[in-house]
Amino acid sequence: SLPVDSVQALASKNLKNIPSRYIRPEIEFEVVPIDESQQIPVIDMSKLDHGDEQKKLHQACKDWGFFQLINHGIADELIAKMKIDTQEFFKLPMEEKMAYAQLPNEIEGYGQTLVRSADQKLDWNDMLCLFPLPVPLRNMRFWPTNPPSFRETFDKYSTELHKVTIYLIKRIAKNLGTDPKMLSSFFEDEAQVIRMNYYPPCAEESKVLGASPHSDAAGLTLLLQVNEVEGLQIKKDEKWVPVKPIPGTLIVNMGDIIEIMSNGEYRSIEHRVVVNQEKERLSMVAFQNPKVGTEIGPLADLVKTKKAQYKTMSLEEYLILRLSGKGPGMLNQMKL
Ligand code: SIN
Ligand code: FE2
Repeated sequence: SLPVDSVQALASKNLKNIPSRYIRPEIEFEVVPIDESQQIPVIDMSKLDHGDEQKKLHQACKDWGFFQLINHGIADELIAKMKIDTQEFFKLPMEEKMAYAQLPNEIEGYGQTLVRSADQKLDWNDMLCLFPLPVPLRNMRFWPTNPPSFRETFDKYSTELHKVTIYLIKRIAKNLGTDPKMLSSFFEDEAQVIRMNYYPPCAEESKVLGASPHSDAAGLTLLLQVNEVEGLQIKKDEKWVPVKPIPGTLIVNMGDIIEIMSNGEYRSIEHRVVVNQEKERLSMVAFQNPKVGTEIGPLADLVKTKKAQYKTMSLEEYLILRLSGKGPGMLNQMKL
């Protein structure tokens, strides 16, 4: 990959003109009128034992691929602490953050999205990306020691997200008509990747993107909007629909792996991030992936009644394929 400057450092220069590598074609910014029906569904995790909520979950996974999760069981105090610690980290002097800098061609650590060519457009985003699970594979050299509570808070938060993942995966399996124990077993020793995003304010907010349009390679994605500044937009019926941050909720979306395993019943939806002229935005995205060794392909129970729509390959092969390219449409490579 090619080295890229810190966007936070770039933004602090208050340049009159943003470097052209960040500037997107105008066509990408058409404004979308929204009404109530275009708000993503809300799912109450404490009610999933009841048939109605379980059905609502199925519809949300099918029609939207995204939902807001309330009553997820993660303590408010822990979420509040995680938000503070994340904000504190990005406030550290650049020098201190650079102690956790990514190594060449690696995604883990403090830095930017991998850049593979000199003409690739750049995202208006800095990040700290960590691989908290499985525990034995943790790379502590990238875990900040400042703020002092960061490691402990992050460890607890990672554990809580794992629990939510197992719970949701079982419910998803049930709705798909496959064995909840079997599907959740792939996620017991999950490969979790957590990415903390910092999007500085940008004077040319309608010309840059915080995140280019993409769908997530993951199984499930659990997103926390850290400072509750709007920015995430999801593609619905060919329009970009903004996701309003609701305090206390997690945003859940189906990643490509769930689309593949569900044989297309559930959808991994394209989304992007826009930035704000005045306000910085912070978010924390947790990618919940099946364990190493899992076969990525339509589940056996789901190809009995409908022909397989996707190829089957090992998680390792899948990730190589998925991470070798860029932009939307990556999932097409998996289609049969
Ligand atoms: C992403 O999907 O890449 C980031 C989402 C967000 O920051 O809200
Ligand atoms: Fe994403």
